[in-house]
Amino acid sequence: MDYNKVSAEYDSYSKEATSDWLIGYPRALEILEPLKGKTILDYGCGTGKVSRRLRDQGARVIAVDISQPMLDIAQRDDAVGINYRHIDSGGIHFIEDASIDHAFAAFVFCNIVSREDAVLIMKSIQRVLRPSGRLIILNANWEDCNGREFISYKFDRIENLVSGQKVGLILKSSAPLRVENYFWSAQDYQAMLTEAGFHTVASHRPLAENRTVEWKGEDKYPLFLIMEALKR
Ligand SMILES: C[S@@+](CC[C@H](N)C(=O)[O-])C[C@H]1O[C@@H](n2cnc3c(N)ncnc32)[C@H](O)[C@@H]1O
Repeated sequence: MDYNKVSAEYDSYSKEATSDWLIGYPRALEILEPLKGKTILDYGCGTGKVSRRLRDQGARVIAVDISQPMLDIAQRDDAVGINYRHIDSGGIHFIEDASIDHAFAAFVFCNIVSREDAVLIMKSIQRVLRPSGRLIILNANWEDCNGREFISYKFDRIENLVSGQKVGLILKSSAPLRVENYFWSAQDYQAMLTEAGFHTVASHRPLAENRTVEWKGEDKYPLFLIMEALKR
């Protein structure tokens, strides 16, 4: 998916994105609490919506992305206190070994075409984490949601999900955006993270809990897959 071309559309989707804001991001970030005073790497920060959330919760944020147009929007919005950097894939050489408390990668690894590239990025993140630092990976949960529709997502129906295959979904908002991703299963992530040197790896599949929202199945089918990997 070329985010250089859809940076404005993605930014406007992400400002609505009910399911992300009420389930995906909060459930992923609560694993890292307390955030105050921590140094967090937002890997694949896009237009910076999570970077801003992390900063507002008192974290020092280093936010990196391969797409300059996505970063341009992030920097234009409200960049105070956030260290945005344009990188090549996995290119976080400017960050010292073991200097980051935790890292977060939201909807990034679903854009990585090969297992080898994903492991390289995970290794680069593992290097900069302090001992006991965590990498949290948030993605849409294809294994439980194939073919389903939710408030903010409509998944294509794929007959046989195969690791690394291209999958399509619609990000629903007032201006729907069709995106193409690559499918990696929880088992794939587990294996890749272990290969990258992470010590323990857990997976989480949160359901919606907020009863004031009229869900479209988010309370029955876990829309998000959260991988939590710990550096020894
Ligand atoms: C779907 S957007 C998610 C942005 C942000 N994390 C969020 O939750 O809104 C995916 C982002 O990952 C970035 N990206 C894709 N491949 C990358 C890579 N190999 N290294 C760093 N960033 C990458 C894209 O440029 C894009 O900004």
